[in-house]
Amino acid sequence: MAELILEAIDIEFIYPDGTRAIKGLSLAVEKGKKVAVLGPNGAGKSTLFLHFNGILRPSRGKVRFAGRDVTYGHAALMELRKNVGIVFQDPDTQLFSASVLQEVSFGPLNLGLSKEEVLRRVERAMEDTGVADLRNKPTHLLSFGQKKLVAIAGILAMEPSVLIFDEPTAWLDPRHSVRTMELLERISRSGKTVVLSTHDADLAFSWADYIYVLKDGVVAGEGTPEQVFQDEALLQQAHLEKPWVLEVYNQLRRNGLLSPGIPVPRTKAQLFACIGGCLGKGRG
Ligand SMILES: Nc1ncnc2c1ncn2[C@@H]1O[C@H](COP(=O)(O)OP(=O)(O)O)[C@@H](O)[C@H]1O
Ligand SMILES: [Mg+2]
Repeated sequence: MAELILEAIDIEFIYPDGTRAIKGLSLAVEKGKKVAVLGPNGAGKSTLFLHFNGILRPSRGKVRFAGRDVTYGHAALMELRKNVGIVFQDPDTQLFSASVLQEVSFGPLNLGLSKEEVLRRVERAMEDTGVADLRNKPTHLLSFGQKKLVAIAGILAMEPSVLIFDEPTAWLDPRHSVRTMELLERISRSGKTVVLSTHDADLAFSWADYIYVLKDGVVAGEGTPEQVFQDEALLQQAHLEKPWVLEVYNQLRRNGLLSPGIPVPRTKAQLFACIGGCLGKGRG
């Protein structure tokens, strides 16, 4: 049986103003996987994510980490936050230190580690995110993309086993989006569990091992990227666009231009490879 690292079990959350943002939602994240939570604005993605490290407590139901119910005492929450790191959508809500170095050091300094260990983690996190050259720069002078990377570095330096990214590419230009997704890929390859939210069907389709579709505070559907995006009823109900790679693949298939055995491509490169393969065969 796959090991579950994070679970939400029938959770409900009501904000103080009475908004029922999460309405009986269950999901499970397998250890080491890349999971996308896909849904339009207001679906409840951010609210759900704030439950994963105990910032919000469900009004009903429970959250589990590594097979154990999350509890909300101070020590238990500190322990949870060591293991589950969240990168918020807006880095301005995350960054509060004067310099990049101070910002990235803040988390590990609070873990009671030796000075050497803090330094090792901070250097490594800054290297991994490409912000080492910015170490002495005041955080408020950074560009948006740089702030985002520094926020990620601050979480990486805590060395959590699960990293949660709330709309990691929101408001980034294409180059920074690609760089951020490459970084998430490297984080995943290093053995971490990575969960992200997005409203971008192309991104979820190409990146995720497993997708949960959220709509109006509930899970409207779930499955592998192929399962989710070939489910016409779900796409219609959740107002989701089909990823363009899948549209092109389906169109080529319909026109008999691809042999049936070819696995469904999830990226532009894979799509081009399958077109190239078929044209090669046609000529041969
Ligand atoms: N602090 C808050 N107080 C009251 N309602 C909120 C608050 N934050 C979010 N909401 C509401 O909760 C619902 C889900 O919001 P959110 O979790 O931010 O969705 P998403 O991240 O998918 O865009 C929305 O209806 C939103 O208006
Ligand atoms: Mg949100």
